[in-house]
Amino acid sequence: MAMDSFIYVIFGASGDLTKRKLVPAIYSLYVQNLLPENFTLLGVSRTGLTDEQFRMRMTTALEQFNETDNTDKIQEFAGKLFYSTLQYDDSQSYEKLWDRLISLKNINDVSENIIYYLSTPPELYGVIPQRLAEAKLNNQAEGWKRLIIEKPFGYDLTSALLLKDMLLKDWKEDQLYRIDHYLGKETVQNLMVTRFSNGIFEPLWNSKYIDHVEITSSESLGVEQRGGYYDKSGALRDMVQNHLLQLVALTAMEPPATAQPAAIRNEILKVFQSLRPIDKDMVRDVALRGQYLSSTIGGTDVKGYRNEEGVRQDSKTETYVALKFYIDNWRWGGVPFYIRTGKRLPTRVTEVIIHFKPTPHSLFSGQTNCSSCNQLVMRIQPDEGILLKFGMKIPGAGFEVQNVNMEFHYSGLSEQRIPSAYERLIFDSIKGDPTLFARSEELIEAWKFLMPVLEVWRDNEEIPLHGYPSGTWGPENADDFIVKDGTGWRYPCENLADNGKYCEL
Ligand code: BG6
Repeated sequence: MAMDSFIYVIFGASGDLTKRKLVPAIYSLYVQNLLPENFTLLGVSRTGLTDEQFRMRMTTALEQFNETDNTDKIQEFAGKLFYSTLQYDDSQSYEKLWDRLISLKNINDVSENIIYYLSTPPELYGVIPQRLAEAKLNNQAEGWKRLIIEKPFGYDLTSALLLKDMLLKDWKEDQLYRIDHYLGKETVQNLMVTRFSNGIFEPLWNSKYIDHVEITSSESLGVEQRGGYYDKSGALRDMVQNHLLQLVALTAMEPPATAQPAAIRNEILKVFQSLRPIDKDMVRDVALRGQYLSSTIGGTDVKGYRNEEGVRQDSKTETYVALKFYIDNWRWGGVPFYIRTGKRLPTRVTEVIIHFKPTPHSLFSGQTNCSSCNQLVMRIQPDEGILLKFGMKIPGAGFEVQNVNMEFHYSGLSEQRIPSAYERLIFDSIKGDPTLFARSEELIEAWKFLMPVLEVWRDNEEIPLHGYPSGTWGPENADDFIVKDGTGWRYPCENLADNGKYCEL
């Protein structure tokens, strides 16, 4: 199928995301011949740059962040990049932008299809679409216009509702693509494929056989250069409201009627709608927050969160969060979900763990006290793959049981590189496929679900924000949080099959 020609406009083109993720992802599509020949990219931001300067910056960025092993086409690709300076809140700037777009359209013989990617500070997510609409840059008479919005979608429920209304005033829902880059990860999409393309998992995927579900997304890095943004956000807003709840949804959703976007997104939404509201009186029991402290990791001194650039010295922002909750529907009634995420933990791992119930009766020694011997670990990153843990007889006399691993690694599947999340999502937005983009209803439900925790934490300073030394698995009482329910966290290591609190780094 021939692809429509289009212009790709990136707002915030002088920023970090553009050079680290967006341009490398687009370059990767380019070298795979997945873009039309007259592909044109216009970078836009406040910084004054010429086309040539922008090209040079992106060339340097590609030398560093190129995700393919092809460097031969960087110069050719750079020739397709252009740049315009724009004051985001100034209407006249948008008229000039239109003139520039028309001139690029004519010079490069492109259709009037345009994708606007907002890679700007979130405060501009309302302003830019509004100004674009005022200047009629959302008009689809001569070609489609799509708007891609990065997270965070709002700061809380009120602001998310406001943003939703603001966008829908001038744009149609099918023009809006809300990015959650986790949905672009191959392994996240594979959650659905593993569940719904196999007959063996689905019969067990319910409260009858599953004891609990655990989802971990740990990072070894701190806030890096993003202290200013992060300090106003925190782990709950930055990771749980979007990425982790999307993982919950894909793990818990019902089989969609078809693989069409609407059918899949409807099932995802139903999970969000079934999250049991968190009672404000229970927040102390079901939510745990922590903040990383300075420490020495592998001989290197690491700053505590409050000493990071852009962070307030008395900051109460959480860099670690653990939550316990339920999904009130037929499939999941009574099954607890435990999720946790944090910065400056021992390793960077994201995984979903299905803990199956033990057998109704223990026949063999070694089998007792094994509340979740059978685990299915769906590893999102790194060492992407699937691990099944089950009991095996230890060779020799008697019937001694030992837990063993059966593992599949994506790396063994094919030589093919796993495309980056941005590469997949950008390609889908070009094709006009919204399956892997969040709908506003989902995001609104996610905010509704988390508001009690955010409000109780905000209004009750006495609720502890536990410090944890960088490089450890979070606050000391993070274990009690789950052990009191008769289970424990899995402590993943970088290698899928390994686990333990002190993995080799
Ligand atoms: C981003 C968060 O959305 O996801 C970051 O803002 C976080 O704080 C990042 O580090 C994690 O993404 P990934 O793909 O590295 O797991």
